[in-house]
Amino acid sequence: MNHKVAFSFADGKTLFFPIQANEILLDAALRNGINIPLDCREGVCGTCQGRCESGDYSQDYVDEEVLSSQDLEQRKMLTCQTRVKSDAAFYFDFVSSLCNAAGPHQFKATVTDVKQVSASTAILHLDLGTTGQSLDFLPGQYARLRIPGTESLRSYSFANRPGNHNQLQFLIRLLPDGVMSNYIRERCQVGDEIGLEAPLGAFYLRHVAKPLILVAGGTGLSALLGMLEELAERSCTQPVHLYYGVRDAADLCERARIDAYAGRIPGFRYTEVVSDPSPHWTGKRGYIAEHFNSDELRDGEVDMYVCGPPPMVESIKTWLQAQTLDNVHLYYEKFTESNT
Ligand code: FES
Repeated sequence: MNHKVAFSFADGKTLFFPIQANEILLDAALRNGINIPLDCREGVCGTCQGRCESGDYSQDYVDEEVLSSQDLEQRKMLTCQTRVKSDAAFYFDFVSSLCNAAGPHQFKATVTDVKQVSASTAILHLDLGTTGQSLDFLPGQYARLRIPGTESLRSYSFANRPGNHNQLQFLIRLLPDGVMSNYIRERCQVGDEIGLEAPLGAFYLRHVAKPLILVAGGTGLSALLGMLEELAERSCTQPVHLYYGVRDAADLCERARIDAYAGRIPGFRYTEVVSDPSPHWTGKRGYIAEHFNSDELRDGEVDMYVCGPPPMVESIKTWLQAQTLDNVHLYYEKFTESNT
């Protein structure tokens, strides 16, 4: 049985390729034009070293001078000795150009739906069609969309998991006056063709072996919805707590979808926080970190994924450092929203 493998690199590029059952990972990579740096091919030089971010795998021989038992616990691996047992994702701490690897691909998609889902947010549904295009990405990554009738490109995180029959979703923040916002409000129609470039980004769901804290600021929710879809699909048994912060309660969106994860992910919890609410708001107010459950964060190892505007991400990093929570492994994506 074939598996699908993703290689992601320090420059944020991700490449996908198929691998045959029991095949050495390096052989499959080379056959697909990804020239991972290598030397010995025997597990003793360490040149082809990477880290498995998700999926099952085994290694034939690993010299203990190259990878210690602690390295192996951290899922570090040698491409020339690895055989994958499931779909899997690997990370390499060098840029993709070292492998002469091609970058993200260009696609054409068709608008199948667009609707406003909060005072400041729309959701755009695209269909890549069934004409041989297949867009592989990791849950949490993003695409750059070319706005019809313009030369402008804007970046948006997938709000769905990969493998969804080529159906894509993106949460779009609606600005008072912006190229994409104006297109969505004034011209966007079912049947429009939109070009996109993907996959992009180093923010994606890793191997899930610990409780997860997901933190979304504004339309940063999009990437985390993609991760939640994947967790639900995989029948995740780890506790998952989503924190979702917005400025005003009218900005909250996709609440029914979020509530439904409680029925799909057994350990799912949800907390929403409004930073600048009206006097009628009876829910949590202020900044997200003020509402973290410290028992949850201090109880063993935790993976935290944060996606939102830079000030929100920075405030959470600062808060974690002040709390000396070394047991929290942080992954984050700062999205700088275009003002036009
Ligand atoms: S090429 Fe030397 S360890 Fe893989």
